[in-house]
Amino acid sequence: MLRLDRVETSYGETQVLFGVSLEVARGEVVALLGANGAGKTTLLRSVLGLTPARRGRIEFAGRDVTRAPTHEIARAGIGWVPDDRRIFPTLTVARNLAIARKKTAFKAWSEKDCFAIFSALEYLMERECENLSGGEMQMVAISRALLGAPGLVLFDEPSQGLAPKIVQEVMKTIARLRDEGIAVLVVEQNVQSALAVADRVYVLDRGRIVHEGGAGALLDDGARRTELLGV
Ligand SMILES: Nc1ncnc2c1ncn2[C@@H]1O[C@H](COP(=O)(O)OP(=O)(O)OP(=O)(O)O)[C@@H](O)[C@H]1O
Ligand SMILES: [Mg+2]
Repeated sequence: MLRLDRVETSYGETQVLFGVSLEVARGEVVALLGANGAGKTTLLRSVLGLTPARRGRIEFAGRDVTRAPTHEIARAGIGWVPDDRRIFPTLTVARNLAIARKKTAFKAWSEKDCFAIFSALEYLMERECENLSGGEMQMVAISRALLGAPGLVLFDEPSQGLAPKIVQEVMKTIARLRDEGIAVLVVEQNVQSALAVADRVYVLDRGRIVHEGGAGALLDDGARRTELLGV
């Protein structure tokens, strides 16, 4: 569903990604881990065309999107759950969701489908988003991505600022998206939670992929995990 081939990305003169190659298959959850400043958000930004790759190639569902504008990439079926969630605070939940609705080549999601995943969402529809809790905000952010009919969803630190119980629920949701055939790329600081849900993992260190493999294997190999991630 997603293929990065030797991607290099810079902000001005400062190069952040160096020859990054990565793949996410349909119905697969891939974790992208690494220290602060490693380039994880930048990688997602390159996929979305927000900070386009200078070199290399990015393919989504067999199509070259390396230099496509962001709105085209979103329309092609890539959903994004950003680290700061980016909900419109003065609009209601219903309004935030209504403006997210898109048609793509992938399965269309209705609000009702989202209620089936997040039962509390139905009762929040008329609330203004600025009054929502962190967990409620995350439900809206994920639902918004689903209403865009994604083939791939990019999560940027979805557990950030959430209580452990809510983190578990977010990870369960990610597993559920995989079961729906959606490809998921999830950036996380919460290494254990991410490895528990992911099928495969990549570790990024100062802009380079330094490890690639099964998530279960890294979860079980404490020594290698400490060496790569310090935890
Ligand atoms: N808009 C920008 N302009 C210049 N440099 C930037 C910009 N955004 C990020 N950087 C730099 O790029 C590098 C990678 O940042 P990035 O946000 O991709 O890291 P990250 O792995 O997501 O880190 P974190 O875990 O803290 O979110 C950092 O050195 C950062 O300072
Ligand atoms: Mg980041």
